[in-house]
Amino acid sequence: MQQKQFLWGGAVAAHQFEGGWDQGGKGPNVVDVMTAGAHGVPRQITQDIESDQFYPNHTAIDFYHHYKSDIQLLAELGLKCFRTSIAWSRIYPNGDELVPNEAGLRFYDDMFDELIKHGIEPVITLSHFEIPLHLAREYGGFKNRKLVDFFERFAITCFERYQHKVKYWMTFNEINNQMDTSNPIFFWTNSGVKVEPGEDPQQVLYQVAHYELLASAKAVIAGKKINPDFHIGCMISHVPIYPYSCNPHDIMAAEIAMRQRFFFPDIHVRGYYPAYALKEFARRGYKLDITAEDLTILKQGKVDYVGFSYYMSTVVKADVNNDNDSNVVNGALPNSVDNPYIQKSDWGWAIDPEGLRYALNRLYERYQLPLFIVENGFGAIDEIDSKHQVHDQSRISYLNAHIKAMLVAMAEDGVDVIGYTAWGIIDVVSFTTGEMKKRYGVIYVDRDNQGNGSMKRYKKDSFDWYQNVIATDGKSVYP
Ligand code: BG6
Repeated sequence: MQQKQFLWGGAVAAHQFEGGWDQGGKGPNVVDVMTAGAHGVPRQITQDIESDQFYPNHTAIDFYHHYKSDIQLLAELGLKCFRTSIAWSRIYPNGDELVPNEAGLRFYDDMFDELIKHGIEPVITLSHFEIPLHLAREYGGFKNRKLVDFFERFAITCFERYQHKVKYWMTFNEINNQMDTSNPIFFWTNSGVKVEPGEDPQQVLYQVAHYELLASAKAVIAGKKINPDFHIGCMISHVPIYPYSCNPHDIMAAEIAMRQRFFFPDIHVRGYYPAYALKEFARRGYKLDITAEDLTILKQGKVDYVGFSYYMSTVVKADVNNDNDSNVVNGALPNSVDNPYIQKSDWGWAIDPEGLRYALNRLYERYQLPLFIVENGFGAIDEIDSKHQVHDQSRISYLNAHIKAMLVAMAEDGVDVIGYTAWGIIDVVSFTTGEMKKRYGVIYVDRDNQGNGSMKRYKKDSFDWYQNVIATDGKSVYP
């Protein structure tokens, strides 16, 4: 994979920033029926779009109508690349049509043209929690094999249309989020799936996973035929799991828990099911719909690079019941415990820059493919003063420490990293909580949790800081 320059960038996702949810022929997607929540208050998935509910993603930050001025700001920041996603339901409003929606295609043509005009490389995720609602309701989302064909058609439409504008692609955003089957939101947003009474969530997960991995492999195969210069990657959420102690039982507990992180990329990268997964299917007696032809396709549709998000690390302990575990936390894993060495954000996310260096090393050792950090950032409450200034020193400190950890991994450990895109480069609607007040951007957007505000954009202190990082190619952080 040849690349001229390190891809310093910023990242967002269509549903979190575009707005225009019903404009230009777009159909509703699974996030369009999600209300707002808060830290500890889950978002609700409503049956339909209900007039007395507030849906924060419907308007988001209205990039749909601000894209030219927003891209102008990103250019001033000096971005080399910009990661966003294509809203599937803008291109295929219901998802099962044969003919795409021309107005939706044109919107992305205009956006890409604008980026390219400013020398910014688009980095595009095909599916970032944006499955058309119709596919979830009528087909049961990715529980249904038909979704593989619908996704392939959507991917081919995008690849053909934008083949001369977009080189870097990813298939499914944070495809492994849904391994946490205890949280219904992840199944819904990743896959348009609801687990019905009587279904075994774990079995549903593995069937859904197979269809998505197959859809991803088919997209890779089709994309390479359309343009052999495409770089098509996977995208995983990578939260390293540390053992609580050097007790060998803790070490092994962490090792086994890490399969939750590695299951998807193992198949995306290697093109076959890992032995631990096959053993698990057999142990649980799962008969999955996986054909011999599917297995051939998985082998042929391997990814070119591993894209991943990194926000935090976590810890597990083998036996959380045996002593006084005051530090047991309500994590995604049943045996999660607090890490006494690490501070947390207001949303309880552990701040661990060293964990990024650790993650880069583990992923690179395991896959030997270029890595792309496509999300990293600090969600925090920002105060804007009367001069419209935001002094977001804690964000600068977070980003500085993580970028430094990445540069050390590259310079001292020899990890091949092709780029870094800071998450929510402009404030967007939070995915997990639907709030605006959980802000990540270096650009402030005047909009609140209830949807009030002028929508005006203001540069935060972190804007100047990141501009300098990019201008010095990271030397301002790690000389
Ligand atoms: C990742 C997602 O999970 O983390 C993004 O890919 C999301 O869509 C980001 O916004 C940060 O999460 P949150 O909930 O703080 O917005």
